[in-house]
Amino acid sequence: MNIVILGAGAIGSLFGALLSKKNDVVLIGRTSHVNAIRKNGLTIDGKTQLNMKISAEDAVDAVSFSVDLLIVTVKSYDTESAIDQAKQIIHNKTVVLSLQNGLDNIKAIEHVVDRRQIIVGVTTHGAFFSKPGCIKHTGVGKTILGELDGETSDRIKNIENVFNKSGIETVVSKNIIEDMWVKAVVNSCINPITAFFGCSNGYLLENPLLEKIVEKVCLESTNVANAYGMNLSRQIMIKKTKEVIRETSENYSSMIQSVRKGRKTEIDSINGVLVDIGRTYDVDVSLNEILVSLVKTFSNQ
Ligand SMILES: NC(=O)c1ccc[n+]([C@@H]2O[C@H](COP(=O)([O-])OP(=O)(O)OC[C@H]3O[C@@H](n4cnc5c(N)ncnc54)[C@H](OP(=O)(O)O)[C@@H]3O)[C@@H](O)[C@H]2O)c1
Repeated sequence: MNIVILGAGAIGSLFGALLSKKNDVVLIGRTSHVNAIRKNGLTIDGKTQLNMKISAEDAVDAVSFSVDLLIVTVKSYDTESAIDQAKQIIHNKTVVLSLQNGLDNIKAIEHVVDRRQIIVGVTTHGAFFSKPGCIKHTGVGKTILGELDGETSDRIKNIENVFNKSGIETVVSKNIIEDMWVKAVVNSCINPITAFFGCSNGYLLENPLLEKIVEKVCLESTNVANAYGMNLSRQIMIKKTKEVIRETSENYSSMIQSVRKGRKTEIDSINGVLVDIGRTYDVDVSLNEILVSLVKTFSNQ
């Protein structure tokens, strides 16, 4: 399969490296990362250890094959501009997979790509961009892929197969939109609170006050999801959020890492979208509103 990774940072470089064992892969990333890969190869350490040669470019013009699968792995706030830059390599048979977090990526991709070409992936792998050319694989996870209409199509089965053959444990979901929402609800609790308090995920359950806040945010975000058409149990969502916190207790969320680096966060795509949707459906979103304001003030966003 001919695969392009659009936004070769942490997760994109990891998936690109694994997929390139059995497929033709081109990474599209920033010049410093591309130059480091060209000079020394792509290095992955942590849970996966490798150093490999892989095609890397800082613009899509250099992609010379017909793209079967374009995997979007930029941060959600970059989706619209990145997909716009990539439109010249997207033809009507190209499948575009958003492997990102956030609730506004499909809409951004739809500006350029026919909705029927878009699929979504949710992954629990963890990766960290150490320095140009070097990625740390911090947690081995699972990946779910799905068509937006829930169909188990031949193309999604084919991509599932390609992922599994490359060592990326993957299953097809019949309700990827709900899976995406579940992850967004969990992230809406963990990311902004850890970012604001500067703590590891695990501390959210060590501190009884923070645990209460997590529960309340989780209930509010679940209410928004359900108003939007999901069917999530409030108690199961609280349980799931706490499970994720326990499983990743040593980790520092991507949002806290962005704040520490003085970078933009994905707050608008997670809690920000929850606020917008909640207001539309007249659901109380006061906690999510506060979290958006706190993180934005704190991170100068
Ligand atoms: N990392 C994880 O463990 C993980 C796990 C699951 C899901 N996710 C999700 O996956 C997405 C990516 O996360 P990440 O941690 O991999 O982010 P990341 O390390 O910041 O990777 C994104 C990369 O894309 C680059 N980029 C942005 N626009 C580009 C463009 N037009 N052309 C080429 N490169 C471009 C960025 O460069 P600049 O930094 O210079 O902008 C950055 O190097 C997010 O939605 C995240 O929530 C991440």
